[in-house]
Amino acid sequence: MEIVKLGIIGLGRMGKHYASIIQTRIKNASIIGICSVNDDELDFAKYKLEVPYTFSNHKQLLELNELDAVMIISSTTEHARHMIDVIQAGYHVFCEKPLALSVEDCQKVIRVAESKPSQISVVGFNRRFDKSYAYAKKKIEEGLIGTPFKVKSQTVDKDTLVGFQKNYVQNSGGIFLDYNAHDIDLARWFLDSEFSHVYSLGGSFKHEVFAEMGDADNVMTLGRMENGTMAHLIASRTAAHGHDTYAEITGTEGTLRVGRPAGVNLVEIYDKHGARREVVSTFLERFGESFELQIQHFVDSVQQGNRVPHSLQNALEATRVGVAMTRSFMMKKEIQIER
Ligand SMILES: NC(=O)c1ccc[n+]([C@@H]2O[C@H](COP(=O)([O-])OP(=O)(O)OC[C@H]3O[C@@H](n4cnc5c(N)ncnc54)[C@H](O)[C@@H]3O)[C@@H](O)[C@H]2O)c1
Repeated sequence: MEIVKLGIIGLGRMGKHYASIIQTRIKNASIIGICSVNDDELDFAKYKLEVPYTFSNHKQLLELNELDAVMIISSTTEHARHMIDVIQAGYHVFCEKPLALSVEDCQKVIRVAESKPSQISVVGFNRRFDKSYAYAKKKIEEGLIGTPFKVKSQTVDKDTLVGFQKNYVQNSGGIFLDYNAHDIDLARWFLDSEFSHVYSLGGSFKHEVFAEMGDADNVMTLGRMENGTMAHLIASRTAAHGHDTYAEITGTEGTLRVGRPAGVNLVEIYDKHGARREVVSTFLERFGESFELQIQHFVDSVQQGNRVPHSLQNALEATRVGVAMTRSFMMKKEIQIER
């Protein structure tokens, strides 16, 4: 196929970002149909994006005969059933993280995907497409830092996103699944092992509203991996200075630090306030290019019929560990992860 014809489910904050990347940067793909449950978003699809077909029910989108693949960027609570319906309808599928809010739902999706082995089914962990994280992984594989034994990884948003989060959080699975899904995936990737135990704690230190929803605004986790190595994961909704997402990998021969500070550029300012770097404000500023590379990779895989290995297994593990972290936080005790 010359052009990959895409359907998109979900046109909120991320769906709009994906649609914009596809329309402006992905030369071998075109958006044919969009589904959203929000009328304003459907108008945006019709009049701003000028997409040929719009629907308020994803099953109508799946009945379009013109599609090659579907990208699921809907609320996390909807991912599992959208994945199952899209795969059963015969399409290649990409889904934003996390795959589902329970291990059982992830396993249901995986069973359906396994019954359709000729279709590509992937869950996006865009940090693997970030050039700096990917470079760190390459350096580890080349043996630069010896044997890695410790990963510190954090996902930290600027406080200004809190207004959006108050509505969003109810369909997100909570801070451990929503934020730390990335950090769990990176720790597994860099340490080449699975989590065996987690101990998580945290609270709503700045915005009580998150506690009222059973969630938190700041959390941290200590994780033990099956190969004996260690992970320290942090998530925060309340940074004053900017979007401060980074990772540090320590091995027997050295340390790699990725992304700190997340400067808007390489300029250091020395003035009456002291010395400083200005940092990015949002994850889209920090990780914009990685989303584009991730979409391009999916579209190319569909076009060329390439398999994308292990992706759903990575998504299952992110949910498994995120659920265990949430339980640890709630129960105030270490949780052993069962497989
Ligand atoms: N990779 C990352 O760094 C990253 C960052 C932010 C969000 N995300 C993920 O992207 C997804 C969307 O997040 P968002 O910030 O755009 O949320 P959002 O609330 O802004 O948008 C959710 C969208 O889902 C649509 N939707 C909800 N239920 C639906 C249904 N039944 N059928 C069709 N559409 C439905 C809504 O209309 C809306 O368009 C989430 O799963 C989130 O975890 C990933």
